[in-house]
Amino acid sequence: MAIVLGIETSCDETGVGIVADGRLIGAALASSMEEHARFGGVVPEIAARAHLESLVPCVDAAFREAGIGPSDLDAVAVTSGPGLATALQTGLAAAKAYAFAWDRPLYGVHHLAGHVAADTLHHGPLPSRSVALIVSGGHTSLLLLGDLARDPIVHLGDTRDDAAGEAFDKVARILGLAYPGGPAVDRAARDGDPGAIGFPRAMLGAGYDFSFSGLKSAVARYVERGTPELVVPDVAASFQEAVVDVLTRKAVEACLAHEVDTLVIVGGVAANGRLRQVAAERCAAEDITLRIPPPQLCTDNGAMIAAVGGLLVAASVPPSSLGLSADPSAPLIRASLDPDRF
Ligand code: KG4
Ligand code: ZN
Repeated sequence: MAIVLGIETSCDETGVGIVADGRLIGAALASSMEEHARFGGVVPEIAARAHLESLVPCVDAAFREAGIGPSDLDAVAVTSGPGLATALQTGLAAAKAYAFAWDRPLYGVHHLAGHVAADTLHHGPLPSRSVALIVSGGHTSLLLLGDLARDPIVHLGDTRDDAAGEAFDKVARILGLAYPGGPAVDRAARDGDPGAIGFPRAMLGAGYDFSFSGLKSAVARYVERGTPELVVPDVAASFQEAVVDVLTRKAVEACLAHEVDTLVIVGGVAANGRLRQVAAERCAAEDITLRIPPPQLCTDNGAMIAAVGGLLVAASVPPSSLGLSADPSAPLIRASLDPDRF
């Protein structure tokens, strides 16, 4: 049984989690989200400074909740990419210092593999094959997964422009909704009619790649026309419906085409109420088992990084060296990130 501490600082959340044999036993989260709100987006230097202030208190709090100490750990795992460079570096420096001081192996983890592994904390180990839809603020990918710790990750499709979360954030801005945009659109859409406006569904029937920038422009054009009957909840609901429709159709098609019976949807946008509902309906219709972690495990957190660490330890994957560096634009090829090895 492996006990792993995970540290996540790729964006504006300082996340720490402790996982024991695939089970979350302690976690702490601090966010600088409110400090970015007046800028309408994450300011990297503000995020990095906030990580610096929150890291040690979060690690201490996670240990307290778990009721264990550093001597009980088997490894330290940290997000080493992708993400904001200065933000990643604070977490990486902390993780290296802890690993060195406690004499424990260090694992550099790919942030998006962390999102996938978050689901194992809720639903248990993944089956031997699955399709994963990752929908976050910076990425939208449809993946074919084998063993997350051992096997290379196969990209079936990716976004060609904006990520799904980015589209939510930009549309929220266009609609004058609060930052962060995803949850604000989700809330506004609850009072709207998803069929009110027929926004475009880009690239349907054209493989597994995605494109959301045309949809965002269509919403902007609609709002700029300034029709007197403009109803924000209807625009929010219609935009959300277009995103959800494309995401779920392509994800289900990928499962059927690759004869995979399990779909995992992860990342911040997986917290979206309508996405969860439509995905459940379409998976049920095709006998596909749908796994979506609870909302607090969808957005960035430390437990998801600890979860990857636990899988890497269990699979006897060699740890990273203390020379590991942050890779802000790391491609998702494997769960572990060590440029010296791959
Ligand atoms: O995975 P995440 O926490 O951070 C990244 O790795 O990017 O995802 C953040 C993204 C943001 O774009 C945010 O607006 C979006 O997830 N998001 C949502 C919801 N909650 C968060 N989008 C739609 N509906 C939500 N309920
Ligand atoms: Zn994320």
